[in-house]
Formats: sequence, C-alpha cells, structure tokens
Amino acid sequence: MQAPEKNLAFDLVRVTESAALSAARWLGLGDKEGGDGAAVDAMRLSFNSLEIMGTVIIGEGEKDNAPMLYTGEQIGSGKGPKLDVAVDPVEGTNLLAKGRPNAISVVGVCPAGTMYNPGPSYYMQKIVVGPEARNVVDLDAPVIDNLRNVAKAIGKDINDLVVFVLEKPRHEKLVAEIRAAGARIQLHTDGDVAGALMVADPRGGVDIMIGTGGTPEGVIAACAIKGVGGQILGRLDPQSYVEKEAIEQAGVDMREILSVESMIKSDEAFFAATGISGGNFLGGVEYVGGGAVTHSLAIRAKTGTFRYIESHHNWDKLMSFSSVDYA
Ligand code: FBP
Repeated sequence: MQAPEKNLAFDLVRVTESAALSAARWLGLGDKEGGDGAAVDAMRLSFNSLEIMGTVIIGEGEKDNAPMLYTGEQIGSGKGPKLDVAVDPVEGTNLLAKGRPNAISVVGVCPAGTMYNPGPSYYMQKIVVGPEARNVVDLDAPVIDNLRNVAKAIGKDINDLVVFVLEKPRHEKLVAEIRAAGARIQLHTDGDVAGALMVADPRGGVDIMIGTGGTPEGVIAACAIKGVGGQILGRLDPQSYVEKEAIEQAGVDMREILSVESMIKSDEAFFAATGISGGNFLGGVEYVGGGAVTHSLAIRAKTGTFRYIESHHNWDKLMSFSSVDYA
C-alpha cells in the first residue's frame, strides 16, 4: 500500500474560485478589462499561497502589457515542485461583460519543461473529441469524414451529433460543411475551453468541437483532456501576417500537428475551472447575501479522476482575513 500522493487540483480550485468570485461582480457591466483585472489580481494572490515554484507558460500576455501573470513570471511561494503553469483568469471576457453563459476561470499545471510553449501564436486550428473517438479524427481530413468517424466511434448517426463551433466569419465554410453533412451545431460567440470541456465530459451535450480559436486556450484545454481522456488535435493557424511573422521569428513550427500528448508531456498534470457566469455544464457564482456559492471542476491526469465541487463561501469569516474584497 502506498500513501496517496498530493492532488494539486484541490489547491488549484481555490485559485480559480478566488478569481471567479472577484470576476463575477462584473457580470454584464460591459467592462471586460475590469472583470479580467479583478480576476487576475485575485488569482495572482491565491497562487502565491501555494507551495510551488511555478513559471507562467500560458499567461495574460507579454510583460510589457500584462502587469501580472505574464508569460515567464515566477509564481507560487518559491518552495515545492517546479511547475509550468497555464492561466486564464477569465476565459470568455466578452461573455462576462455581456452577462452571457460559459465565462469560466481556468488554470492548468504540469512539471517544469512539459508544457508546450506556443511562443507568440494567438490562433490554433483545433478538433476536440472524447475518449472513444480519440484515434479517428484527422486535422487534414474533410469535415464529413471526421464527423462520420466520430459518429461511428461513439455509436451514433451523423444527425445525432452536436458540434461546438465558435461563431466567427472565418467559420462560415466550416458551418456550411457541417450542415451539409447533416450534423447539428451549437454556435457560441466565445469560450472554446468550455467547449472542449463539454466534449470531454459525456454529460456536456457536445460530441465534437471543430474550428480555430485561441492558442493559449488550446494548451489549457489539453491540460484538462489529459486527465479526462479524449483528444485535442491542433495546429497553429495565424490569422494575420504580423502573427505569422512573429511565429516564424520565434522559430516555432507552424506545421506541427499538436496533440494532447505533445502539448502536455507528463501525466503529473492538474487542471481546475470555476464557473463565473453560469452555463449548463458549470454553474456560475451565486451571491447569497452573506456569501457565495461556486461550482468548480478539478482534474488529476495521473488517475483520470475529475470532480465537480460545490463550495459555500462565508463573507463574515473570509473577510476577517482575506486581502481580496469579495463582498
Ligand atoms: P478571451 O477570454 O481572451 O476574450 O477569449 C475568448 C475566446 O472566445 C476564446 O474562448 C477563443 O479561443 C478565442 O477567444 C477566439 O478568439 P477570437 O474571438 O479573436 O476569434
């Protein structure tokens, strides 16, 4: 018998909870920077209470523009395991500003040197599928072939499938192809980490996610899928000449087909997410007068355990010592 090892995902849930509790005050206020800033402040503070030596690989941007949680920043207490860290204090800043569902706070960690570093890339072409379909998709295959293969792998007909797609002009042809193939679609303006999580959890109501979204979001989603099972295939997909030039200059290979294994190269990976604005897969922050209720997801890759956690926060007790003003 071996004593259980520490599950860092529990600590990470406290980090995403604190970001979500701060950000949710900005729900529908039309100020995406305000909501994001509140989440960043709270997340940074909570991270520093953790016994880790973390390096931000996927962060809020370059140091010059992001005062905190910028790429390359060292976070944590400075003692403990050396980790690569991916953060998105508010994934879906527009969703939060407009009070729409599926804004979430997310973090992922894995041992130092095992997280894919996409350099200055903003956009990634992605396909996300659940465990049964993990070997049947191909980024270069026609859409109809991928849909047919996924349907077969999960024992459905094509017209049973629900495909998550970001509603963007760049996806007009993709949407037409999915419709022509006979599959059904959920079009979301933002939030493809939530989309990937909905695919990964059989109860999420989505069978496959296809399309181009943020590169940081792709790496964060890989961290979750590493634990839950399934696959995310990705390839950098610059949307402007400037982005393409920057990637080339940084020496990052734009042709590489990325997978969950190449984006997160260790099983010692952990992921946490807390709902901010609510949605059908992770409830949002509910303020209840003297406190709040949060809904989170904690994933440990090594064991494949994922937990949904409902937390009840009490302002009277919390505010007597917390340096973040949640109330
Ligand atoms: P932010 O939270 O940074 O605003 O990202 C939201 C998001 O919708 C992501 O989920 C997605 O990957 C990306 O933006 C898509 O980018 P764009 O809106 O530029 O197409």
